[in-house]
Amino acid sequence: MGKGNIKVLITILICWLILENATRTKAFINTQPMKLTDEASIENVMKSLTIDEKVQLVIGAGYPGPNGVAGSTRSIPRLGIPSIILSDGPAGVRIGGLFAGAPPRIATAFPIPSLLSATWDVKQMQKMAKAMGMEAREYGVDVLLAPGENIQRDPLGGRNFEYYSEDPFLTGSMATEFIRTVQETGVGTSIKHYAANNQETNRTKINAVVPKRALREIYLPAFEMAVKQAKPWTVMSAYNAVNGVFATQNRTILTDILRDEWGFNGLVMSDWWAVKNPVAALEAGNDLIMPGDYRGPLPMPELGKELYTKASAPSPELLKAAIQDGILSKEALDSSVRNMLKLIIKTPTFKGEYKNVDYQTKTALSKKTAKEGARVNREVAPEGMVLLKNEKKSLPFKGVKKIGVAGENAVVDLAQSKLGIIIGGGGSAKVNVDPKNVVSLVQGLKNADYAVVDSVNGKKVIEGLSKNDAVNLAKNTDIGLVFIGRQSTEGADRPDMSMKPEEIQLIKDLSEAYHAEGKKLVVVLNIGAPIEVANWSDYADSILLAWQPGQEGGNAIADVLSGKVNPSGKLPVTFPVKYSDVPSYGNFPGDTINNVVHYTEGIYVGYRFYDTKKINPAYPFGHGLSYTDFAFSNLKLSSAKYLLSKNEPLSISMDVTNIGPVAGKEVVQLYIHDQNSKLDRPFKELKGFKKIFLKPGQTKKVTFTIDKRALSAFDDKLNKWIAEPGKFTVLIGSSSQDIKQEAEFMGVGKDVN
Ligand code: BGC
Repeated sequence: MGKGNIKVLITILICWLILENATRTKAFINTQPMKLTDEASIENVMKSLTIDEKVQLVIGAGYPGPNGVAGSTRSIPRLGIPSIILSDGPAGVRIGGLFAGAPPRIATAFPIPSLLSATWDVKQMQKMAKAMGMEAREYGVDVLLAPGENIQRDPLGGRNFEYYSEDPFLTGSMATEFIRTVQETGVGTSIKHYAANNQETNRTKINAVVPKRALREIYLPAFEMAVKQAKPWTVMSAYNAVNGVFATQNRTILTDILRDEWGFNGLVMSDWWAVKNPVAALEAGNDLIMPGDYRGPLPMPELGKELYTKASAPSPELLKAAIQDGILSKEALDSSVRNMLKLIIKTPTFKGEYKNVDYQTKTALSKKTAKEGARVNREVAPEGMVLLKNEKKSLPFKGVKKIGVAGENAVVDLAQSKLGIIIGGGGSAKVNVDPKNVVSLVQGLKNADYAVVDSVNGKKVIEGLSKNDAVNLAKNTDIGLVFIGRQSTEGADRPDMSMKPEEIQLIKDLSEAYHAEGKKLVVVLNIGAPIEVANWSDYADSILLAWQPGQEGGNAIADVLSGKVNPSGKLPVTFPVKYSDVPSYGNFPGDTINNVVHYTEGIYVGYRFYDTKKINPAYPFGHGLSYTDFAFSNLKLSSAKYLLSKNEPLSISMDVTNIGPVAGKEVVQLYIHDQNSKLDRPFKELKGFKKIFLKPGQTKKVTFTIDKRALSAFDDKLNKWIAEPGKFTVLIGSSSQDIKQEAEFMGVGKDVN
């Protein structure tokens, strides 16, 4: 063979080797599954996932999750799909300690959501949500199971403290801010409990029969606002049934309304053990079945006898059998898996942001984060406290050095878990705190340099004290303070909203004793939802609603009583005179034998009811006093006509002046009254609010813009929102009943929506 031929042969050989290698590499690449890396990789990952893997992804990994969180999801390591961490909740990160075997993991117990909404101040919400997001990150949490967006339908609702208000606009506005801010920290949220989960009694069985209009105008709008404006990563479907179909299996609310109408493109997870029929849940649009272990009578007999014997839990095996038997569609499973992957790629765990922290051994926040949590708690809590009554300006304390503190609720006894204050509610919203971090009322007053007398003749001043002891306390102190507390929790509605006779007696005796000395008596309410006040409020000179203010509560209460902070909270819920006045009276918690509750009050919830039916409450929605006074003037509308065929903004402005002696904040509330509606409408509805700070003598212009939706009602016959032509009144108030300024405009033309 000549040299030339050898050269040719070598060249051919090299070419062959290169080609062969390229083909092998290509084949190798083709057989290697594509890992989950980003949004663009999802479709390839979908192709690589086997049925066995897909069914794993839509069922949680069991309860509790790692390190004592509420839950987590399953991982598929070969495709780079990690498990993600889901943790409660609405009033602080709840992790560890509360579950058997999980070491305590201390986080900040922030004020309850009702206090947050009572601030009517999105800036306060931002501060708290940011601090909560940072704490979630320190514990490696991917999704916070909050906020709760259910409406406080009845004052006895056991979870009212976790929710924001009786009003959907206020609820939606506060929740939207929470979601936006938490998600800015890189942690996801889960708006819950979707929908019409307004009671705890028989919550897993009850069928909430809600008129369509009430559903659209009262129970859904807060979710709608959050979905449209803040894009929560996830939605949690509720335990109850809505109009005959369990929320977890309710296609109308999970798909038709949530996704198709509102444009939600995140993930729907079920509440814990809420799913009755896993196949129906997936088909309806409930993507993730939580927490993934078996509790309760499953599967439902309607799944079919054959399937029933194949598996006994909402397990991956059951779902696989359902796919094989053609009971569950591949499309439904794929759509949920896709939503899972879309969620996973957003999480800090997936992004590798939690890699360097040992969450397994971590049981406390860093000093910096804990300090920040306490600081934010102290700053935010006074802003939501509501001064219900302040006769002769008895507050803030003037010349007060020594305070007589009364009431069982103020007693600290750690052996009996009494912290001297109720910092929050019970259930999944309960945060694991270190009692050392809790500031009791008495401690808070002492921290503010007041002397506190809470015993007479060696006995604590509590309910049942003698008149003599009351007189002694009054003689020996400058002012009296009665601390009334109520706890409530997930899993149970409250039995009543009454005061105990011995509490009223204590207030009455101390009132007489202090008044005889020419001194004042203050009552501080440490509660999560309304209680009766009308039958004892005359005895008190001042009443401060402190809610359940978080672990810094004692300091925060002292800040308001002393005048360090001028109160500016307003009621997010009506305080009725008596329980029989409430709109849902007689229809709450419904028929607990047949498990059905009828929302017969329809859209007339909270102030919409009291206002329209002219029933005087003890304290109306939006009420709250200040240590200063405000004047409203100069209300102006951008136009006297509103064209209903368009959806253009109408702007409304007015001036607010601080006419009192000290700086303070006022919540300007905007209500709309439709004068000519054919549809039955509440007398007024909240459509805007703004909180402003004013120095004495200062005036500020406040401007609102409203759109057509603010004028609309849901027409259940036409199945759409509709604004009717005619006269509307803009009502500007300092509460729903203290209307300061009014102006009219005409809705003209036809709403061609
Ligand atoms: C509650 C949810 C909570 C979940 C996980 C359920 O009992 O209803 O609000 O997120 O538990 O703890």
